[in-house]
Amino acid sequence: MNTLPTFDGDTPLVPANQLLKRGERLLEPDVYRIQLEGRPAVVKDYRRYQGTPLSPIARLLVRHEAKVLRRLQGWKHAPALLGTLGGLALGMEYIPGDTLTASVQGVSQEVFDQLQGALARLHAAGITHNDLHGTNVMVSAGVPVLLDFTSALRWPRWLRNSPITRQLRRSDMKNLVKMRQRLTGQRPSAEQAALLAEPGWVLGLRRTWKRLYRWIKRQG
Ligand SMILES: Nc1ncnc2c1ncn2[C@@H]1O[C@H](COP(=O)(O)OP(=O)(O)O)[C@@H](O)[C@H]1O
Ligand SMILES: [Mg+2]
Repeated sequence: MNTLPTFDGDTPLVPANQLLKRGERLLEPDVYRIQLEGRPAVVKDYRRYQGTPLSPIARLLVRHEAKVLRRLQGWKHAPALLGTLGGLALGMEYIPGDTLTASVQGVSQEVFDQLQGALARLHAAGITHNDLHGTNVMVSAGVPVLLDFTSALRWPRWLRNSPITRQLRRSDMKNLVKMRQRLTGQRPSAEQAALLAEPGWVLGLRRTWKRLYRWIKRQG
């Protein structure tokens, strides 16, 4: 097996012009590529929050994403974790390729079949991704790789069949079906559509929230 390069306090972080995404919104990291022991690596860097009141939350996000990636270590559908640095930066394997959104040559059904299998495996491991969309999936030599586990949650065994966990799994799958339809034109099968239909309590909750939201807006 390949040994992974070390990402730690001695790693010089020089983003140079390898910026992949600038963190603009609240608690978004700068994401950039570096060379680490001769190999490309990706850093999610929250250091602009150093010394600010939001620093503990940024640290929590780093620690959380690192924990999920550590669980998935060795899985080909997630980048390998290289480590964290000073609590505010996370280093991981660089995945060459394009995001689903940026795949100009189109994405094959086969990639989506693999992605669906990967998502099923993730769910079977008790993890929901919770932010599945086109920029959080890379396609690397025909293999889909899930990125951005900031919002992912790992559920204890006794909660895995609770309505909320089932809803989050359904929501992941719904996002996948939506991407599939947008990028390949394939519509969900009747069976899939039935499986993805929202249960009554979710529809109720959504309706109540909409009403409340409209009411709040009217007050303003
Ligand atoms: N391991 C990686 N390999 C290659 N590109 C990556 C990697 N991680 C992130 N990226 C690129 O950086 C972008 C932002 O990373 P992401 O983890 O989604 O951060 P954010 O939480 O700000 O959305 C991704 O959409 C992707 O284009
Ligand atoms: Mg993202």
